[in-house]
Amino acid sequence: MEIDKFIQQIPKAELHLHIEGSFEPELMFKIADRNKIKIKYKSIDELKAAYNFNNLQEFLDIYYSGTNVLLTEEDFYDLTIAYFKKISEQNVVHAEIMFDPQTHTDRGIEFSTVISGIRKAQDKAKEKFGISSKLIMSFLRHLDERSAYDTLKQSLAYKNLITAVGLDSSEVGHPPSKFKGVFDEARKQGYLVVAHAGEEGPPEYVWEALNLLNVNRIDHGNRSLEDSKLIERLVENKIPLTVCPLSNIKLRNVDKIENHPIKTMLNLGLVATVNSDDPAYFGGYVNENFTAVANVLNLTEQDVYSLARNSFKASFLENSEKEKLLGTLDKFISKTNK
Ligand code: ADE
Ligand code: ZN
Repeated sequence: MEIDKFIQQIPKAELHLHIEGSFEPELMFKIADRNKIKIKYKSIDELKAAYNFNNLQEFLDIYYSGTNVLLTEEDFYDLTIAYFKKISEQNVVHAEIMFDPQTHTDRGIEFSTVISGIRKAQDKAKEKFGISSKLIMSFLRHLDERSAYDTLKQSLAYKNLITAVGLDSSEVGHPPSKFKGVFDEARKQGYLVVAHAGEEGPPEYVWEALNLLNVNRIDHGNRSLEDSKLIERLVENKIPLTVCPLSNIKLRNVDKIENHPIKTMLNLGLVATVNSDDPAYFGGYVNENFTAVANVLNLTEQDVYSLARNSFKASFLENSEKEKLLGTLDKFISKTNK
């Protein structure tokens, strides 16, 4: 089978997706109109033309400004259900979705508005598309730890709806150590934990995420490859990396797709997965991320299978659910090999 077709059809999970980063320009204009908010770009084309980034911060500035039009529960529902509809066409059967509460609560939007809209879309996606999902609440690392504590406190009323906490936004200058206290508290409250580390920041930040935050997964983690002791640790402890190839290119953390390390990661025995990060900004959802690397790095069906298998293994699903999805995956493989 052609690799693009194999990628399209293989069941998979997405583990690194910022719901605010799935905000497509068309929907942004529609919601802005509905809420009578003016966008600083005159047209969808003009907005898309601004999606040219030299680094993470340039992207984040545009990404945060895009969220300003999100006001109501309906807005968060529309945003989230649009993402689910998209991935339902890509054979994504499970998604672990990050949201940034502080981006909204700092603008005066209630935590309850954000989470209720997202939750309703999660329920609808299960019913309509059969897609299961979990929520990861990410703290903005450019803000102080106090603000993260406040957010953690607000989340406790919705603890049953949130699986894990995460750490995102501007990495360099905001190491994981800044958030050790709030992550300790989050774990005490029963949350699993993830953190962006080694996207732009040095390997030391990945060490800190492991040793100080006790993360269950690393988001990105690319720069771990600069430190052989760190690679050993990640392999030994089977710490998954949620890698985002198109994001790495758009934010210039990898110079060109030919040099993307995903195949190297697999060869090293790392539990690497492929994800989209912010698909509306980086030119593709999860399958486009797979095809981008597969075509250039000549990934085999076996490689793509390993990546899909890793996505289920690295998920925060209950073991019984994991086994079910791994079974579906293996059924797909035996069918295609007939
Ligand atoms: N928020 C949304 N996308 C992000 C990324 N790639 N890195 C850090 N924070 C983010
Ligand atoms: Zn991310």
